[in-house]
Order: sequence, then C-alpha cells, then structure tokens
Amino acid sequence: MTDEISAEDWLQQAVVASNEGRHAEAQEGFARALSMDPSLGEAMLGLGLSYMATRDFKDAVAPLRQAAATPDAPAIWHACLAQGLYMTGDFAGCAEAFERAAALEPLATNARLTHARARTFSTMIDGSVDEALSRYPALAGEEAEDIEVIAREAFAVLGVFGHAPAAAAVGAWRLARNPDDHIQAYLLQAVSGASVDRAPAPYVEAHFDSFADNFDHQLVDLLNYRAPERMAELVAGHADQFADILDLGCGTGLSAPALAQFGGRLTGVDLSRGMLDRAEARGGYDLLVQAEAVAFLDDHPGAFDLVFAADMVIYFGDLSGLFQAAEKALRPGGVFTLSTEAGADGWTLLSSGRFSHGDAYVAQVAGSGFELLEQERIALRHEGTAPVEGTLHLFKRRA
Ligand SMILES: C[S@@+](CC[C@H](N)C(=O)[O-])C[C@H]1O[C@@H](n2cnc3c(N)ncnc32)[C@H](O)[C@@H]1O
Repeated sequence: MTDEISAEDWLQQAVVASNEGRHAEAQEGFARALSMDPSLGEAMLGLGLSYMATRDFKDAVAPLRQAAATPDAPAIWHACLAQGLYMTGDFAGCAEAFERAAALEPLATNARLTHARARTFSTMIDGSVDEALSRYPALAGEEAEDIEVIAREAFAVLGVFGHAPAAAAVGAWRLARNPDDHIQAYLLQAVSGASVDRAPAPYVEAHFDSFADNFDHQLVDLLNYRAPERMAELVAGHADQFADILDLGCGTGLSAPALAQFGGRLTGVDLSRGMLDRAEARGGYDLLVQAEAVAFLDDHPGAFDLVFAADMVIYFGDLSGLFQAAEKALRPGGVFTLSTEAGADGWTLLSSGRFSHGDAYVAQVAGSGFELLEQERIALRHEGTAPVEGTLHLFKRRA
C-alpha cells in the first residue's frame, strides 16, 4: 500500500527505474519521495537527471538547482546543474555552477571544456567577442579547440537560445574574417532582423551543397520528416493522374517515390547541385534542372499540371512572385501544393534563416488565379525535441 512505502523506498525504486530507462516512472517516484521528505537531495538530483535524460531541460533546472543548494552538495551535483543550465542557454549560470564544482574538486576534461564554452558565450553576451575569444584558450587548457570552431558554435548556440545581439556580434566577427561566406552573411542578416524577403540564391546553394550528404538521414531518420507523403495523399484526394509534374526545390528527391503514383513526366528543379546529384542517384525523375524556382516557372508557361513544393517556400518570405510564376507555369485546372512553417499572419524571417507564414496570408497571396482546395495542419519535422508546426496547402489553378 502506498502509505507503507517510505520516502527512501520511493527513492530507491525511482533510481532503479531511471537506470533502466523508465523515466516517467522514475520521475513519479522521485516526486513522491520528495513529497514525503522535501530535504532528500538525491531525489532532487535524480528528478533533475531524469528530466535531462528525456531532454526536458527546462524542467530539469529547478530540481538540479535545489540539489546543488543542499548543504554539503558534492562537486558532481554542481556540475549536473551546470549541464542543465547550459542546455537551457543560461551560460553565465552554467559557468558559475561549474566554478562552484571546481572549488570543491578539479573539473574533468569534458566539464572543463563545457565550462570554457559557457564562460566564453556569457562573455560574448555581457562583454565583447574579442575579449571572450581571447580568454577561451586559457580556460579550456590543453584540449582547447580552434577559436574558429568555437566562434561557429557560438553563433549557432547564441542564436538558438535567443541571444540575438551576441549572435549578431559573433556573426559579424566571423564574416569579417571570411567575407565570401554566403551562409554566414545571410544568417547574420536573419539573426539581426534585417529586412529581406527571401533567402538569397548563393546562400541556398552553399547551404544545401554542404548539407546534401546528411540531408536524408537528418530529415527522415532524426527529424521525422514526412511532408512529401502527406502532400501526395492530399493531391491524390483530388486527382490520380497528372501528365507533367514539377517537383519544385526537389532537393535529394525525397518526394519522387510519393509522386510516382501519378504517372506522368517528373521534372525536378533545385538551386543546389549537391542536392540534385542525390536526386539523380535516387532516380524517378525524367529531368533534373539546376535553376532558381521562380525563374524556372516563368520560363515554362503552361508546362505543368502539378507543381509540388515540399519544404521549399520556407526559403521565401513574400510569396507573391512565386504564386504568380506558378499560375503562369500551370495549365488551367492544374494543382499547386506547398508546405509552410506555421507563423503569425503575413510572413516572418526566423533566426534560422527560414521563413514562417500565416495560413490566411498564403490563401490571400494566391489571389484570384487559384482556388483553395485544402489547408491541413501537420507536424512538419522536429527541431530539438519539439515538433515544428506547419501547414500543407492545396490550390487549383482556375480555368
Ligand atoms: C528543405 S529542402 C526540401 C527538399 C525536398 N523538396 C524535400 O521535401 O525533401 C529545400 C530545397 O529547396 C531548394 N531551394 C530553396 N530555395 C530555392 C529556390 N529559390 N530555387 C530553387 N530551389 C530552391 C534547396 O536547394 C533545397 O534543396
């Protein structure tokens, strides 16, 4: 019976569950132990570590902080709190927690390197990039990583955690050293909130050329990307055959298998040579063309019955030019389907360099040339542990 189980029993059961990967059970056990004995430091630590294991980093911080605040908390408890704070983007708090651990016993190599990064990133936030990077080697010691690697990671991490001014300062530092870096140039604009209405072609090309080798594994295996299949199902609900199909921003050709059911001639267009090479290797296309999407549509009036743009218009903010060009390239009655990342109305440039769109904006920008057939909410893919909400849109070109 529940009331015969002591706090210590709950703690032991929770530790076993945690070690065996039964995290929900472990969290419940640690919480019960704490409800009976709120001073049980091991239960606070266990609860925090269990949230870390399930990547619920925000929930992990409070119990880890309580554990580290208990009298005589050992160095490792401070180091656990430091790890939790790092994963939530509190770099100053992380560095301080590691420093409390180091006051009790020397940090292990990994902890020392994480401390050096956290202190470097927090100095970027509160001080300057030069100051932060000049101090990094002494903090990291013999295993110090190259300063360029640290700066690249700082830009990404500071951006992800919303430290936009610091990320922009690091981006400017990197760009000054390598002015031809198209990826950095655009991402600096994105994180600085610059007014740009689409990702520039040199960025798209460079980004996807460098991403091409890992794209399928990242998107399908790790991020659970399934938009092409679902988009094809929506299309199939309206027509089962198309004579000429355009896979716009075809990437590595993930949509080709789902498009095969429609018969017809399949053309793939993409800016990135690296992505097109993978699409060619996958097969399923009658023609693959390296071109900019809007320019290609403009150059092919009345050439297609289905234009299929999966995870592609996220590189456009203003969609008016794309819709006009799609209307021109589609035959009357032809279908245009696209996926967007869900956002506030209108369109928004995100710090990732992608754009989000409001559904009403997409319907409105399609204008009188298209009839809206369907809009469906979908979890597009994952980012970290969270699903990225999106919308699949299906339009018919009016006769
Ligand atoms: C996230 S990938 C999606 C690829 C594929 N449609 C899929 O669903 O797997 C986006 C692709 O769009 C391409 N792209 C982005 N903007 C483009 C543009 N303006 N013209 C042509 N291709 C573009 C990129 O090169 C990239 O291959």
